[in-house]
Amino acid sequence: MNALANIPDTTTVLQNGPGSALLEVIEVYKAFGSLKVLDGFSMKLFSGENVAIVGKSGSGKSVLLKCIIGLLPYDSGIIRVLGQDVSQLDQRQLDRLRTEIGFLFQGSALYDSMTVRENLQFPLRRHMDKMQNQVEEELIRETLASVGLEHTIDLWPEELSGGMQRRIALARTLILRPQIILYDEPTTGLDPITSREIIELILDIQKQYGTASLIITHDMQCVRLASDRMVILHEGKNYATGSYGDLKKRNDPIIQAFLETS
Ligand SMILES: Nc1ncnc2c1ncn2[C@@H]1O[C@H](COP(=O)(O)OP(=O)(O)OP(=O)(O)O)[C@@H](O)[C@H]1O
Ligand SMILES: [Mg+2]
Repeated sequence: MNALANIPDTTTVLQNGPGSALLEVIEVYKAFGSLKVLDGFSMKLFSGENVAIVGKSGSGKSVLLKCIIGLLPYDSGIIRVLGQDVSQLDQRQLDRLRTEIGFLFQGSALYDSMTVRENLQFPLRRHMDKMQNQVEEELIRETLASVGLEHTIDLWPEELSGGMQRRIALARTLILRPQIILYDEPTTGLDPITSREIIELILDIQKQYGTASLIITHDMQCVRLASDRMVILHEGKNYATGSYGDLKKRNDPIIQAFLETS
């Protein structure tokens, strides 16, 4: 039985039609006092694509993600997610929209006092209508299987390696079957082999669920392998966008510096 068939349908109706952007950021400005962080930043994320955002430390990547999910207000410009203008939504509408956007924060932590099963139950019970126990259990197992960790269901976070914890955090996001996933530094702090596994998982999720993703990363291997397109956030603006291969051919010292050292 496909447990997904029993999830209450909370799908937000796309108002822009097929082929249009799931996420649009248009000329967004955000400052903290005199510190200009986003200075007319624009970008789009289309259905099914993975876009990587690279930028120096402190350039505003995490701020951008927080603006996208409505955790931080921005000063001007437009952010439209699944056709909805984020700045115009009330708390209830924002909560609903957030069930369609999975986010993995920098160093996303599991709830230490909960088992893996309880960690995955948490978003379901918070955001979905009550499910039958058996349906819920199947959905949890299916989602854990999609990150390759069904056998950890009864374990506690402290019993898992760092890479496994990150996979479980991803499963906890995936369980609501979001249309968009926002990853903030998904491979930072992991050894090369575990990083590679996370990259493969990001690609698997794109394939398996057709999810579009925004991936913030310093890891050029992650950009090269996991993204269809990259955006360079530089001095608050979208300095350049294109596939890794396309940007590699551009004879621009700033772009080249990012590709070599980020
Ligand atoms: N709530 C806040 N109040 C004041 N300043 C903030 C706040 N959040 C972020 N900043 C500042 O905005 C700038 C951008 O921060 P942000 O966290 O987006 O950087 P980042 O690009 O994600 O960096 P890193 O790669 O190190 O994670 C920094 O100078 C930071 O100090
Ligand atoms: Mg950050």
